[in-house]
Amino acid sequence: MKSILHQTLDRTGTDSVKWDGLERWFHLKSDVLPLWVADIDVRTAPAISEALTARAATGEYGYTLFSRDAQRAVSDWYSRRHDVKFDPNHVLFSSGVVPGLTHIVEALTEEGDGVVIQSPVYPPFHELVTGLKRELLDAPLIQVNGRYEMDFDALEAAMRQAKLFLLCSPHNPVGRVWMESELARVIELARRHDVIIVADEIHADLTYPSQHHVAIGRLDDRVITVSAPSKAFNIAGLFASYIVCPDDAWRKRIIQVQNKHHVLPTPFANTAIIAAYTDPRAERWLDQLTAELEEQAAYVVGRFRESMPYLTCFMPEASYLLWIDFEALGLEPDARKKWLQEDVRIFLSPGTPFGESGRSFERLNFGTRRTLIDEALERLIRQVGENEQRTGNAFV
Ligand SMILES: Cc1ncc(COP(=O)(O)O)c(C=O)c1O
Repeated sequence: MKSILHQTLDRTGTDSVKWDGLERWFHLKSDVLPLWVADIDVRTAPAISEALTARAATGEYGYTLFSRDAQRAVSDWYSRRHDVKFDPNHVLFSSGVVPGLTHIVEALTEEGDGVVIQSPVYPPFHELVTGLKRELLDAPLIQVNGRYEMDFDALEAAMRQAKLFLLCSPHNPVGRVWMESELARVIELARRHDVIIVADEIHADLTYPSQHHVAIGRLDDRVITVSAPSKAFNIAGLFASYIVCPDDAWRKRIIQVQNKHHVLPTPFANTAIIAAYTDPRAERWLDQLTAELEEQAAYVVGRFRESMPYLTCFMPEASYLLWIDFEALGLEPDARKKWLQEDVRIFLSPGTPFGESGRSFERLNFGTRRTLIDEALERLIRQVGENEQRTGNAFV
């Protein structure tokens, strides 16, 4: 098969958030390279586009139920790929993973209840909790020998006051794939303090071939799992996601909240889930993509370590997001943003919304062709050099 990642896909003019959003939302010129929002610059698996084309050709686009075949597809996928048996009847549709997490928090907690997160973490984790007027309890991750780990003392302290824990597995932005021993400790603490675990596994199917994702639902049958084929197959714009909730009473409450918010799939969501999870060609495509992403991660991290060793980056174990510490440049977040956009001319995701510990960080999405990555890195290296010459101050 030809490379998936290194083929050119021009997304400009498609109303792409990542590409066209730069001008529309941030008034930036088109020469700024977008390495931010978490989708990638590749066409989805042909098996999925073929299935969608066939569905489109029916001309039937009325209100649609979550297909039983899609429920079975999710259940079979988790069984085959992650060794956990979910009852297909426990799989609910969700129009996005973030809406799914939001509806779960709304359904299973009350205003003022504590919800635990582990910063730095995907900004909507913070926003959905505070937006629902729940108390945000942070148990920040800690850096140990160049890798992020859970702080179990902090996690237990937070869980003492909490009703629910939002686990990001694999973790965005630090790229960790949690080990079974770590997840087992999470479960032990949650049981001790009667805390509901809600696992966002949206990046799970992009776990690198050298790593192993453990679905936490395999270790505890009360865990609620929220996921989608959206990251793995690059179909985030279809909003085809799901919630797996084995507990009958909790599931009933989640459905009530979903009904209040009119959650229904589009016909294309059903088709995409079924094609992604049942067509063997899609599965082979995904296996190739994850291998290419692992290689790209090693390449990008290698280039940073060789050319800009003063910028610390954390080798991801899944997906296409690189968490980079720009502390050595001594720039405040606003000044760094201006410098990156106006001088370097690349657009990254700033670290502060991921949590206070992210202040000096940026997140770089390397899910694009190698030539674009090279251009971005060269711009960065050049501007670090130019800035040193202009100011006479070595940045580092
Ligand atoms: C951990 C995590 N959860 C959820 C999402 C978004 O999911 P959705 O667009 O389905 O709401 C992302 C997107 O980057 C993510 O990284």
